[in-house]
Parts: sequence; C-alpha cells; structure tokens
Amino acid sequence: MGSLDFFQRFLITSLFLITGCNCEEPVLAKDMKFKLHSGDLMPLVGFGTYQIRGTELIRDVLDHALAAGYRLIDTAKVYRNEEDIGKALKELLPKYNLTRQDIFITTKLSPNDQGEKAYDALQESLRKLDCGYIDLYLIHWPGAYGVNASKVNNSALRAESWKQMVKGVKDGLTRNIGVSNYLVRHLKELSANDFGIKPAVNQVEWHPRNRPSDLLEYCNQEGILLQAYSSLGGTDNNDLLKNADVDKIAKKLGKSPAQILLRWPLQQNIAIIPKARSKKHIDDNIDLNFVIPDEDMAILSGFSQNRYAWNPETVV
Ligand SMILES: NC(=O)c1ccc[n+]([C@@H]2O[C@H](COP(=O)([O-])OP(=O)(O)OC[C@H]3O[C@@H](n4cnc5c(N)ncnc54)[C@H](OP(=O)(O)O)[C@@H]3O)[C@@H](O)[C@H]2O)c1
Ligand SMILES: *[C@@H]1O[C@H](CO)[C@@H](O)[C@H](O)[C@H]1NC(C)=O
Ligand SMILES: *[C@@H]1O[C@H](CO)[C@@H](O)[C@H](O)[C@H]1NC(C)=O
Ligand SMILES: *[C@@H]1O[C@H](CO)[C@@H](O)[C@H](O)[C@H]1NC(C)=O
Repeated sequence: MGSLDFFQRFLITSLFLITGCNCEEPVLAKDMKFKLHSGDLMPLVGFGTYQIRGTELIRDVLDHALAAGYRLIDTAKVYRNEEDIGKALKELLPKYNLTRQDIFITTKLSPNDQGEKAYDALQESLRKLDCGYIDLYLIHWPGAYGVNASKVNNSALRAESWKQMVKGVKDGLTRNIGVSNYLVRHLKELSANDFGIKPAVNQVEWHPRNRPSDLLEYCNQEGILLQAYSSLGGTDNNDLLKNADVDKIAKKLGKSPAQILLRWPLQQNIAIIPKARSKKHIDDNIDLNFVIPDEDMAILSGFSQNRYAWNPETVV
C-alpha cells in the first residue's frame, strides 16, 4: 500500500486542521478516525486504563470518559480490569444513548498466553468483557513470558499466536488484530508469515523522548496505524509534564503541558490513548482542537532519547 493511500485513510484527519481548509467546520479531536484494513473506523483518541482497577473506579472514570467524548477504550488481560469494564459499559452505554457499535474496544494477549494458548486467551478476554466481539486484539509484547528474550522460541511463539488470532477473526471473536511493542524487524518477520491478515495497529511507547522514526516510516508505508502509549511519560513520571520546553509551548498556546504532549502525536497522524483518573484530566486530554506551530513541533521532535517503559530491543 502506497503512502498516499495510507494518508487518505485518515478520513477525518488532523492534517485538516493543520492546512486550515476553510471548506467546512474543523473536525474535533474526538471525531478523528482512521479506516483500518477491515474497513472499520477507529477513533484516533482513546482512553487508556492501565492501573485503573475496581468496579466503582472503572465505572466512574468510564462515565467521565464517555461524557467527554472518548469512544475507544484500551485494556489488556494483564490490567485485570476487563470484567469491570464489561460491567460498566452495560450500565453506561444506555446512559449515553450509545450502542456497542459506537464503542471501540481494544484488549491484548498476555505474554503468558503466547502460542497455541492465544485462541483460548482471546475467548477468555471476550467472555470477561462480555461485549459480543472485540474490535481490536493486540499481541501485547513480542516475547513470551518464561522464555529468555534472547531465545528464538519467542519468534515461533508469536507466529503461532498470530495464527490463532487470525482464526479468532474468522470466528468473529475479534474484528481486527494487531501488535504492540513491535520493532521494524518484528513487523517484517510477521509480514512474511501473516496467514492472510496484516496487523491493523502497532501500539508503542511514543513521546518526545522516544520516537523511533524508522518505525513510524515503516508503519506508514505498510498501512499500519501507529498508536502511542505513555504519551505523558507514564505513571508517576514528570519528566515530560514538567519539562521546561513543553511548559513554554503550553503557555504560549494557552494549553496545558499534557495537551501539548497529546496534540504532538495526533498532529503526526499517530493515535493516542492517554490514561487519567480525574475528571479534569479526562476532559483536557480530549480537548485537542488546536494546532501546534511547525517550529514548536520541531522542538518537541528534537528531545534527547530516554524510553520509560519495557524495551523490545531485547526481544529476538
Ligand atoms: N502496550 C503496552 O505495552 C502499554 C504500555 C503502557 C501503557 N499502555 C496503554 O497506554 C495507556 C496510557 O499510558 P500510561 O498509562 O503509561 O500513561 P500516560 O497516559 O502517559 O500518563 C498517565 C499519567 O499521567 C497523568 N495524567 C493524565 N492526564 C493528565 C493531565 N491532563 N495533566 C497532568 N497529568 C495527567 C495520570 O495521572 P492520573 O491517573 O492520576 O490522572 C497518569 O499518572 C495505558 O493506560 C495503557 O492503556 C500500553
Ligand atoms: C438516541 O439515539 C437515537 C438513534 O440515534 C435517536 O433517534 C434518539 O433521538 C436519541 N435519543 C436521545 C435521548 O438522545
Ligand atoms: C538469557 O540468555 C542470555 C544469553 O544466553 C543470558 O546471558 C541471560 O543471563 C539469560 N537471562 C535469564 C534471565 O536467564
Ligand atoms: C523452543 O524451541 C525448541 C527447539 O526448537 C523446542 O524444542 C521447544 O519446544 C520450544 N519451546 C517452546 C516453548 O516453544
């Protein structure tokens, strides 16, 4: 797939805001969508739920999130909140006059379930979410739990996982499949043996201190949507939120540092899934209807590199 084609799939694109097309109303961040290989529309702004656990807390944050306009929810088996998310949505969708089809649910295969177990793990996640079908199922990590990262077995196991997930698509358990924390070499390996379905998405650590351009270029070229995680630096890390350059740009544009850190990927056609507990943060993180000028985009894209999350370079 050529790159022009790829950018045309951002049906409602942030580029629209950048070019300042005066033909229509600017599109709000909450309405931006990308058309996946399957034809499904995926919101570019989603809600992350790592470390948000417990029936009441999940219900409260999802209540705020749906009210604010989020329509994509990102979870994983290892977050141990799938069941509570399923319960909360049963109560909240009617409250917001939404149906299952209005919501996009992503969950992930645990590194503990790589290989032949992947199909059962997908079924188990769907049972917990109890939402009819999953929109997007991701291999959480290229490695397998309990297998030394330097061993080639990891490669055989993730290939088997993909085979099982393709079966999951054919059986209607999930509508789309993708990967997370894959490097270019992991993606190339998969593309040589994809059992007929290409990855829709690669969810990776992406922020000014970790922005591997080779990965973005490869994903754009292959029609794989890059989805950023830890855009704000992750939990309890103020390295980016308190950064002087981020703060300066935020003050200049009259936005919060978090909004700058979230608008920066969105403006590069990278999807985002910020996590927040407070209503104020939840509201701010989807209120991204502004443009960061080129010179400030360049400052953010010039930070020295220092990743915060797990490092897939170690996985064969
Ligand atoms: N695939 C993977 O391997 C992987 C890895 C990590 C994360 N993820 C996904 O990506 C999501 C987001 O990443 P993340 O959880 O690492 O963290 P993040 O989105 O970078 O940052 C979350 C932190 O920032 C705070 N925060 C949120 N909005 C704020 C605002 N407007 N102003 C100031 N502080 C704000 C949050 O605090 P409060 O919660 O206290 O509001 C939280 O501590 C996760 O929830 C998960 O769904 C995936
Ligand atoms: C709920 O949604 C339906 C279908 O989109 C619409 O016809 C109806 O007016 C909505 N009701 C409320 C209360 O928003
Ligand atoms: C993994 O394998 C490497 C290379 O054989 C070895 O140096 C390392 O100690 C192993 N790690 C663990 C946790 O076993
Ligand atoms: C790892 O690879 C070895 C050699 O190919 C094989 O015998 C073994 O079953 C593999 N283990 C797993 C967990 O796939």
